[in-house]
Amino acid sequence: MHLKIAVLPGDYIGPEVMAAAIPVLESVLKKSGHTLEACRAADAILFGSVGGPKWEKLPPKEQPERASLLPLRKHFRLYANVRPGLLLKNLIDTSPIRPDRIPNGVDMVCIRELTGGLYFGAKSTTTLADGDIEAIDTMVYRKSEIERITDVAIATARARRKQITLVDKANVLETSVLWRRVVSERVKANAPDIALNVMYIDNAAMQLVLKPAQFDVLLTENMFGDILSDEMAVVCGSLGMMASASLGANRNQHGYGYGLYEPSGGTAPDIAGQDKANPCAQILSVALMLRHSFGLEAEAKAIELAVEKTIAEGIRTADIAAGGKAVGTKTMGAAILARL
Ligand code: IPM
Ligand code: MG
Repeated sequence: MHLKIAVLPGDYIGPEVMAAAIPVLESVLKKSGHTLEACRAADAILFGSVGGPKWEKLPPKEQPERASLLPLRKHFRLYANVRPGLLLKNLIDTSPIRPDRIPNGVDMVCIRELTGGLYFGAKSTTTLADGDIEAIDTMVYRKSEIERITDVAIATARARRKQITLVDKANVLETSVLWRRVVSERVKANAPDIALNVMYIDNAAMQLVLKPAQFDVLLTENMFGDILSDEMAVVCGSLGMMASASLGANRNQHGYGYGLYEPSGGTAPDIAGQDKANPCAQILSVALMLRHSFGLEAEAKAIELAVEKTIAEGIRTADIAAGGKAVGTKTMGAAILARL
């Protein structure tokens, strides 16, 4: 199989963690006889985090988040963002949550709607007649958008513990009322085997630190998912551990989903260039890419196991070292590669 992957390294720590991820990708492919080509007509995009203070003086529309990442998501109609929150039992010490609250670790996944809601609704900033200034973001959702992301959550739950928790704010927001209705109807009609819970966002934010193990599949809209997935990531150790797959309706030449794969943690300008960033999220994003865009399950698993083994052996970057001895980005990457 000839894999065409567009590699976009990103800003600040982006290129550093990407530099650790590429050898892992090359090595796992070489072992299984596949070839890699970085090009324009790609089957998938391997993305490094973008954004940072360098561009803060630019008009908001020209800043990297809005000028590159969000248009990519919209252009390729990547409406389903899948973020696994996995904290293995033998890595519980990497979590800031008290061990007795998570004796068996955490194994959940956040399914976030990615091309609607506040991110893409009409926006404006206007100076009013009285001199006051008004800014508006609009939260818009269509039934069809909710249905297609619900289908992703159903398929995900079916391969897991068959539980979906819909997170919304149906006691206040009109869009949330629609979400609740559409998701409930969809699950009832198409997935009677799935247990659906509903939870308000404020309660969910609390439950996630109180009893994280109660969750299987979290389903939510764009903005709530942005916030909750970061919270989920630290509960599961660190933001530096959270990979992410953004999938849509498009297929690549191999018949698998065209997707964008990126770490969820951002560019961390404060530690950029210091060989401190955790490359695991970028490396685990490579695994998600091999699984979802190329159907290479064995290769994906091999990478995930290599990461797990490395951390279990106590080789850790500062964010997951719990105050203990920490290694740098390069050493971490090399250690994972060596265990592949
Ligand atoms: C994420 C990020 C992005 C988002 C930013 C960089 C625009 O926080 O992928 O979670 O808000 O979606
Ligand atoms: Mg985010």
